Amino acid sequence: MIDSRISRRAALMGAGAVAMWLHSPARAFLQSMAKLPVPALVDGLIARMTVEEKAGQLTLNPSAWGGGVATQLNPPTSGPSWEAQLDEVRRMQLTGVFNSNGAEAARRMQTVAMTESRLKIPLLFAADIIHGHRTIFPVGVGEAASFEPDLAERTARMAAYEAAASGIDWTFAPMVDIARDQRWGRTMEGAGEDVLLGELMGAARVRGFQGKDLKATDAMLACAKHFAAYGAAEAGLDYNSVDISERTLREVYLPPFKAAFEAGALSAMASFNEISGIPSTGNPWLMQDLLRGEWGFEGFVVSDYTGDEEMIAHGFAKDAREAAKLAFLAGVDMSMTSNFYRNHLPDLVRSGDVPVARLDASVRRVLAMKAALGLFDDPFRRIDPKREKARSRTKAATALSREAGRKSIVLLKNDGDLLPLPRSRRKIAIIGPFAAGQHDLNGPWVIYGDNAEAVDLATGVRNAVADKASIQVVQGSGVEEPLAGGIDAAVAAARDADVVLLAIGENEGMSGEAQSRPEIVVPAPQQALAEAVATVGKPMVVVLKNGRALALEGAVANAPAILVTWFLGTETGNAIADILFGAHSPGGRLPCSFPRSPGQQPYYYAHKPTGRPNPGEKLEPYKAHYRGIPNSALYPFGHGLTYGKIDYAGLSVSPTLPWAGTLTVSARISNRGTRAAEEVVQLYVRDRAASITRPVRELKAFRKIALAPGESETVRFTLTRDNLMFIGRDNKPVVEPGQFDLWIAPSAEAEGLHGTFELTAG
Ligand code: BGC
Repeated sequence: MIDSRISRRAALMGAGAVAMWLHSPARAFLQSMAKLPVPALVDGLIARMTVEEKAGQLTLNPSAWGGGVATQLNPPTSGPSWEAQLDEVRRMQLTGVFNSNGAEAARRMQTVAMTESRLKIPLLFAADIIHGHRTIFPVGVGEAASFEPDLAERTARMAAYEAAASGIDWTFAPMVDIARDQRWGRTMEGAGEDVLLGELMGAARVRGFQGKDLKATDAMLACAKHFAAYGAAEAGLDYNSVDISERTLREVYLPPFKAAFEAGALSAMASFNEISGIPSTGNPWLMQDLLRGEWGFEGFVVSDYTGDEEMIAHGFAKDAREAAKLAFLAGVDMSMTSNFYRNHLPDLVRSGDVPVARLDASVRRVLAMKAALGLFDDPFRRIDPKREKARSRTKAATALSREAGRKSIVLLKNDGDLLPLPRSRRKIAIIGPFAAGQHDLNGPWVIYGDNAEAVDLATGVRNAVADKASIQVVQGSGVEEPLAGGIDAAVAAARDADVVLLAIGENEGMSGEAQSRPEIVVPAPQQALAEAVATVGKPMVVVLKNGRALALEGAVANAPAILVTWFLGTETGNAIADILFGAHSPGGRLPCSFPRSPGQQPYYYAHKPTGRPNPGEKLEPYKAHYRGIPNSALYPFGHGLTYGKIDYAGLSVSPTLPWAGTLTVSARISNRGTRAAEEVVQLYVRDRAASITRPVRELKAFRKIALAPGESETVRFTLTRDNLMFIGRDNKPVVEPGQFDLWIAPSAEAEGLHGTFELTAG
């Protein structure tokens, strides 16, 4: 928190305000914000640059290498040929390119910059390294399910190790947008619905990408995106308007950005959306007052792909020149793809619309960043084809992908302990469009990884069982269309089997950018397949593939066992088999709530109670719920089973949290089962009455523990009043004394162990 203040309720404590500020995390945070040193050579260069060359340093374009592979994940642009792009480099009209292909392309381009351009300023190579480079790790939301920030740090580190060796200096990650409407396809890229989990995962990824030294040949600059509130798009429609209060912005959507900057991220990407009528790309309050002023951010801001240009379609800028001016003066240092800066900034400066000092300040930030990345010392430091090859898809990376994969899997349901399956003496039918085949394994936002190099489910299962001939694979259905004869073949295979693995869900194209879904359900042909296979009556394990939470229905919801497997990347099949056959107990927990019905969206556990909450599961008239369903999730945030039998007992919580003290809470967690277990022990709090209404629960801490059969562990958490801060009436952080509920529980909606305490004012 930045400006830690006390409220009217706590006015008694006014005298302590200064002392509180001195010891507040806010102050520590400001002091820990990464600094960007500016070496003398940067100012020397700026003094020698023309206005056109300066605008060039603020222009980033998709790479033209290979006919423009860069734009495969973006709307096509009429970009230049490779030769024409090299000429732009010669004329110092580019600061760098993104989504190029490998060290060889980077070497050629950097050579032109360093030998044929006037001032020989090194280029910056950027890329969307979102969840892996050549070795692909689980999509962000999947990895968040691990509830292991350390894992996210390690996979980001590995991604940087691989990607930096192919010349990439800068990744457009982490995406730290909170996703509370599961219709939004970009849920897959972030850490889900929760603020604390979003902060921890975002910060971990920054540490992983950047490592300890930005100059290192295995470090990439991180970019926190999309600033801000991109995930709050109305109705979950990608790019849609956002209209939220400053309080919600500060309390829900901004904290993961702060955490990312605190962890050292020195670049940010402006979001496509508007907030309350002002597109982020043209929002000086966001970029100047808040980001640089209030937070002290010293890095640079890049627009999103044609973000400045899109302000014309937003109805905010009348033409390209005005869009360039608005974006630049709002604080967006670098323009991506539109070329608006290099086309218009020189003229805007000459006409006095843009002060030259502002231009110089942005160029200074960009050049200082190139220096921080070590590019002035050695422009080729990350460009090494031999190193690129040696670091690509190493054994260690593959093993990490498998570890991350299995840790991302969430066991929603396991009636009758159907899982784990025995490895022998069982005939298994793997049915569904994701049963076999090297497709839809890596997931969205992958540029360099290849599905053909990833392990599919059937292969993973065959690798794990004693008798490979006992496996039958039937596709049964297309993803969004039926398959002729598919259901009959699937039913026959199910009849012949002892157990069915039903591999259904979403393909890669159904989540990610621009992939909002109006109905977040299993597509109809696959649902029909599930209904038909279920009538056979064999034990059925649903293996879901998904980039978001889904509303499960009918035979899918009723299956005795359900595994959420997201998009797990390179080791998909092996990771799923590790869980199916019990090599590991599931340790994943949902980072986004699975609703009872798609119509509940946006549904998130930390919602407000309303004035008419429905007290229990029984639906009462004139209470807040939809017709026929309680206002709760089918599987809430934090939910997930393991193979042990977990018991929560012995809550110990002291009755008061003194204003300047701590509160220790503990509970005894035991594994009463016969298998090793992994549990994510979660601490939730509710403020009973405050000057601003508070959510029904908020996650304040969690711990993941491993328990052998019969083992118990006492898990302790410590709270201070800072954990109880919220954004008050004046949009500043406040803490108010009063009564709080507290739960140590296995999910956001499980009762677990309940206690209360009071935060005292003195
Ligand atoms: C996305 C960004 C991405 C950029 C470059 C945009 O469409 O919103 O997240 O980094 O393209 O590929």
